[in-house]
Amino acid sequence: MKFENRVAIITGSGSGIGEGVAKRLSQLGVKVVVNDVETEKVNRVVEEIKASGGDAIGIAADITKMDSVRNMFEEIINKYGKIDILINNAGIARDKSMKKLTEEDWDAVLNVNLKAQFLCCKVALEYMQEQKYGRIVNISSRAWLGWPGQANYSASKGGVVSLTRTLALEVGRKGITVNCIAPGIIETPLWSTLPDNVRERLLESQPTGKIGQPDDIANTVAFFAGDQAGYITGQTIFVCGGKSLFAKMG
Ligand SMILES: NC(=O)c1ccc[n+]([C@@H]2O[C@H](COP(=O)([O-])OP(=O)(O)OC[C@H]3O[C@@H](n4cnc5c(N)ncnc54)[C@H](O)[C@@H]3O)[C@@H](O)[C@H]2O)c1
Repeated sequence: MKFENRVAIITGSGSGIGEGVAKRLSQLGVKVVVNDVETEKVNRVVEEIKASGGDAIGIAADITKMDSVRNMFEEIINKYGKIDILINNAGIARDKSMKKLTEEDWDAVLNVNLKAQFLCCKVALEYMQEQKYGRIVNISSRAWLGWPGQANYSASKGGVVSLTRTLALEVGRKGITVNCIAPGIIETPLWSTLPDNVRERLLESQPTGKIGQPDDIANTVAFFAGDQAGYITGQTIFVCGGKSLFAKMG
């Protein structure tokens, strides 16, 4: 993987997968911008990256709002002069059966998981098109294939796949690639909150017999984000230990 003088923003990188991605890219020499809606999380991750010798800044912002997104990118340009890599990672879940799902559950999940990716892509692309270089990696989920109790989450993640494909077609001639990763179960704070019996069932349904780590996603992000992946665009890759191969419910 080759990174020379590259600047990346990772949304929702105050925790879990995003934190792993920010730290991995930093280890590879990328200047990283840590974004999260929670200031304390941002500060902790930035401090840890700096303590390991990395170059990082933190921007606490709610990326579901266009004004916040514009300000965030202006701050990046003021600090680093450019933005090369956008990792759209922030996401939430509010899993409920269709019967119990409310309009508010729908809007909350669609806003963070899909609208925020649109807003960040829109503003990042203004800078990337000017500099004729860019790498965008959108985090979807294996759940985009569908899962009971996840109508809002699945729909938002399916939207991410479609957004990726369309943007790849629109900006392919500008030296910009747009790709997508669909993770399966990854060991983040979310996983540890699940009841033991649910975790056991999910583990049983894993073809590889284990769940993934944030690094599994971080390494795939690093591949798409590097210079060498310039001929790959519009693609969605499952990083899910084979779970996408069949629909057995865990
Ligand atoms: N963990 C998994 O098993 C798994 C599986 C498939 C997909 N994913 C996806 O991976 C991504 C990261 O998930 P995670 O498990 O690391 O979750 P996480 O909850 O550990 O991290 C998500 C971060 O996003 C932040 N965030 C939420 N709303 C935001 C907003 N409006 N603006 C800025 N930041 C915001 C949260 O504060 C949190 O720190 C999500 O898009 C999720 O849907 C996770």
